Amino acid sequence: MRAITLVPGKQGTLGLTEVPDPRPGPGELLVQGLALGVCGTDRELVSGEYGFPGGGPMVLGHESLGRVLQAPDGSAFSPGDLVVGVVRRPDPVPCGACARGEFDMCRNGEYTERGIKGRDGYGSERWTVEAGYAVRVDPALGMLGVLVEPASVLAKAWEHIERIGSRAWFQPERLLVTGAGPIGLLAALMGRQRGLEVHVMDRAASGLKPELVAGLGATYHQGGDLDAVGGYLPDLIIEATGSGPLIFQAMLSTASAGIVCLTGVSSAGRQVRADAGLINRDIVLENDVVFGTVNANLRHYRAAATALGEADRSWLDALITRRLPMEEFGAAFDTGEHIKVVITLEV
Ligand code: BGC
Repeated sequence: MRAITLVPGKQGTLGLTEVPDPRPGPGELLVQGLALGVCGTDRELVSGEYGFPGGGPMVLGHESLGRVLQAPDGSAFSPGDLVVGVVRRPDPVPCGACARGEFDMCRNGEYTERGIKGRDGYGSERWTVEAGYAVRVDPALGMLGVLVEPASVLAKAWEHIERIGSRAWFQPERLLVTGAGPIGLLAALMGRQRGLEVHVMDRAASGLKPELVAGLGATYHQGGDLDAVGGYLPDLIIEATGSGPLIFQAMLSTASAGIVCLTGVSSAGRQVRADAGLINRDIVLENDVVFGTVNANLRHYRAAATALGEADRSWLDALITRRLPMEEFGAAFDTGEHIKVVITLEV
């Protein structure tokens, strides 16, 4: 069968290659790959900017959607079910968090991730997955199930925002999201689902991004820094650009007891000047919290599937701005103006 592969850490190794058909081990599902979402992490793996070199070639892809072909007896799955495979697996020690199913919070960094770190991903015509790491997708979602993985990252972010908020009385009203890519837009969707007044800031002056924000009943602000948003102070900021100056600005721009949630993975080496004293004083005197979040555990995948199920289908559909067949995989990794690019895996 065909798979999209690369050698981690080596630029120029991306290709569509013939690999042996997967055989499900005990307790594993055999799945027909249907769709594969592409995100910034994949693009960085392709360019060699991110990755964990050492092994041989790896099947790329972590935003999966497939249809079960074979399920082990006694599993909760049957042939025909739509499923998404979980990205991360616990570290082998395991650390306390991984031992409790909270592998998204791994303490020793020895976790593995399908299609990213030490494990083949889901970018192949067929794949296998342990039944315990497969998440059922409502058939009504159809191909939109490919958004479950990126949405799981936000379901975790929201869970953590709510847990942090519950340290004391807190009733947030306003959310600001920086960046209107897939992560920012899904963050905004979940903010609206919570009844918040949502603002989204992005550089795009026109086109689909402002339209999608308006479609949520949220307010769009065009610009590259928070001055574009106006004078108000949001209770929550979800930062989804990874831009250094914006991160420091966000830390100074919440209302008291505000929460800044950082979701963007940035490259090292970009320096910015910041007033550390002012930032510290602002965070301390306002009881603010700044936290980072990555990945998701099973609970978050299920919450993501529910959130997508409750969202407007045509709005979700509009997030996928490019659909490419497997043979055109190369174009999926170009950085362009697209929101979500999806590769279809079924012939
Ligand atoms: C994925 C996460 C993963 C992270 C770091 C993201 O693109 O969505 O599941 O943990 O990359 O590897």
